[in-house]
Amino acid sequence: MDKHHYTYQSIHRLARSIAEQVQASGFKPDVIVAIGSGGFIPARILRTYLGKPILAVGIAYYDLNDKPTDYPRKVQWIEEAEQQLSGKRILLVDEVDDSRVTLEYCTRELLTYNPAALAVAVLHDKRKEKRGSFPEGVSNVFVGETLDDVWIVYPWDAIDIDAHDRLASMEKK
Ligand code: G4P
Ligand code: MG
Repeated sequence: MDKHHYTYQSIHRLARSIAEQVQASGFKPDVIVAIGSGGFIPARILRTYLGKPILAVGIAYYDLNDKPTDYPRKVQWIEEAEQQLSGKRILLVDEVDDSRVTLEYCTRELLTYNPAALAVAVLHDKRKEKRGSFPEGVSNVFVGETLDDVWIVYPWDAIDIDAHDRLASMEKK
C-alpha cells in the first residue's frame, strides 16, 4: 500500500485548517473529546486554537484475553460523563476516519448523554467504502485532508523522526 509520511509541521497545519473550519462553521465547542491514542496529539493542537478542555477516551479492538474482536469497546471512558457532557457542545477528535467503525461507536455513545451538539474532527478521511456511519445527531464533520486509501505514517509512530521527515520530504503528495 502506498505510504504517506506526515511531519509534525504538516499535522499542525492540518489541525489549524480544521480549527479554521470549526470557527467558520459557527460550531462553538465547549469541550474536546480525544479518542486515544491517535486523537491525543491532534486534540492538543486543536486546543491551542479553540481553547477548550480535553477529555480522553480509549477504545480497543481486543477483549480481556487480548483476543482481537470485530467491534470496539471502551477501555477508558469519561468520569461522570452524563454530568460533564449533557447539554454541552462536543468536538470529537481522532487522527483518521478509516473504516468509521470507531467513530460511529464513539458518536453513538456520546449521544446517549444528550449533548447540545456533537461534531467530529479528523486530520484525515480516507476515500473508501466505510463500514460505519455517522448517526443523526452529528452536526458537522471537519476534515483536514481527504486521501485515497493509502497508509498514513504519523510522526508520533516514528523511531527516527529525522529519517521520517526525510521520507516525507521525498514523497510527492
Ligand atoms: P475509524 O473507525 O476511526 O475509521 O478507525 P478504525 O477503527 O477503522 O481504525 C483502526 C485502527 O487503525 C485505528 O487505530 C486507526 O488509527 C488505525 N489506522 C487506520 N488507518 C491508518 C493509517 O493509514 N495509518 C495509521 N498509522 N493508522 C491507521 P487504533 O486502534 O485506534 O490505535 P491508535 O493508534 O489510535 O492508538
Ligand atoms: Mg485511532
